[in-house]
Amino acid sequence: MPGFEVIDFKEENSLRKIFKQGKGILFRHGFESLRGSSYQVQNFEKNFSKKFKTKYSLAVTSGTAALRVALASLGINSKDEIITQSFTFVATVEAIIESGAKPICTEIDDTLNMCPKDLAKKISKKTKAVIVVHMLGVPSNLYEIKKICKKYKLILIEDTAWGIGAKYKKNFLGTVGDIGTFSFDFAKTITTGEGGMIVFKNKKLYLNAKAWHDHGHENNPKVPRWEDTRKSSGFNYRMSELQGAVGLAQLKKFKKIFFKHKKNKNIILNKIKSLDNFKLRTIPPYCTEASESLILLMRSKKDALKFRELFLKEGYSTKILPEATSWHFAGEWEHIKELKNINKILTKSKNILSRCISIPIFFKMEKKFPNIVYKVLKKI
Ligand SMILES: Cc1ncc(COP(=O)(O)O)c(C=O)c1O
Repeated sequence: MPGFEVIDFKEENSLRKIFKQGKGILFRHGFESLRGSSYQVQNFEKNFSKKFKTKYSLAVTSGTAALRVALASLGINSKDEIITQSFTFVATVEAIIESGAKPICTEIDDTLNMCPKDLAKKISKKTKAVIVVHMLGVPSNLYEIKKICKKYKLILIEDTAWGIGAKYKKNFLGTVGDIGTFSFDFAKTITTGEGGMIVFKNKKLYLNAKAWHDHGHENNPKVPRWEDTRKSSGFNYRMSELQGAVGLAQLKKFKKIFFKHKKNKNIILNKIKSLDNFKLRTIPPYCTEASESLILLMRSKKDALKFRELFLKEGYSTKILPEATSWHFAGEWEHIKELKNINKILTKSKNILSRCISIPIFFKMEKKFPNIVYKVLKKI
């Protein structure tokens, strides 16, 4: 589970700096004579780039905003189609709809992420980009998906709301495709309360996004901001200095959180390894995961529901599967008219997801937690 478990005086001190040294300037731009060297968002972007080895990072107000701004940087319009996967959070599809494009959802495979074969089938002349989602910390099959995107000249966006710190070959998730998006909402590995980051390989796309997320402002150093130059319209998805300060403190804790998650997940896996009534998610080739959740593929939907019932009786809830599938599976989004009748074609995904349970991994895992998982699983 998230960085909120480790919020302490370090985040508080980071915030205090804005008020003490930065004279309370909460806006990321301007006020040079007052703020001294207090540039929280700028430093958060710089340190994020350094940690995750990426050239350009742009902080925004949420992971949803990160997806929206990423699509804006590509100049997506109503004639375009963007392909994503059926198992994700509703935000991924909402961002596509907000950009004016048509969302197309692929089936998942036993990675629980985008099925490359179904992706190849769903590409049309209108397809402009693919958004893979490293759902709940396991990477998508980037080896196959990158090959397909290259063949059809499609932009690859990685929705890395989950999976921060996981890798494909030697590269961090989010930095493998053309654009990567991250979320720092309160349930994520590092949190700024609400917040997001976009990383780019290409300078032009970065500059497009930087301007668009700030009403088109180019932040031209030759003129004051109120006379700033612009080439496009945009919107306001600017991160505030408050979020930036918290982000800087959380970033310093990232490694500790990442490896503690891994350790705790391994303790649970070790405890349940003698049982044979479940399977684990497939980790695609050349990938390592982020241990944000433990997903068990049960033999049937009945087993999955039984697990949930018994786990709840022990005072614990499962995370997302099957708990909140209605928010995370496109086949159930009847409220989104752009996805009309999609439930009829996502039968493979539905079949897989209905058998899955996800167990949250906590930083401060209770000592008894692995035993409870074992006890409940043994009864099924
Ligand atoms: C896969 C995925 N994409 C995007 C988002 C949106 O992030 P945010 O809550 O920061 O807007 C989430 C949020 O949980 C998510 O799970």
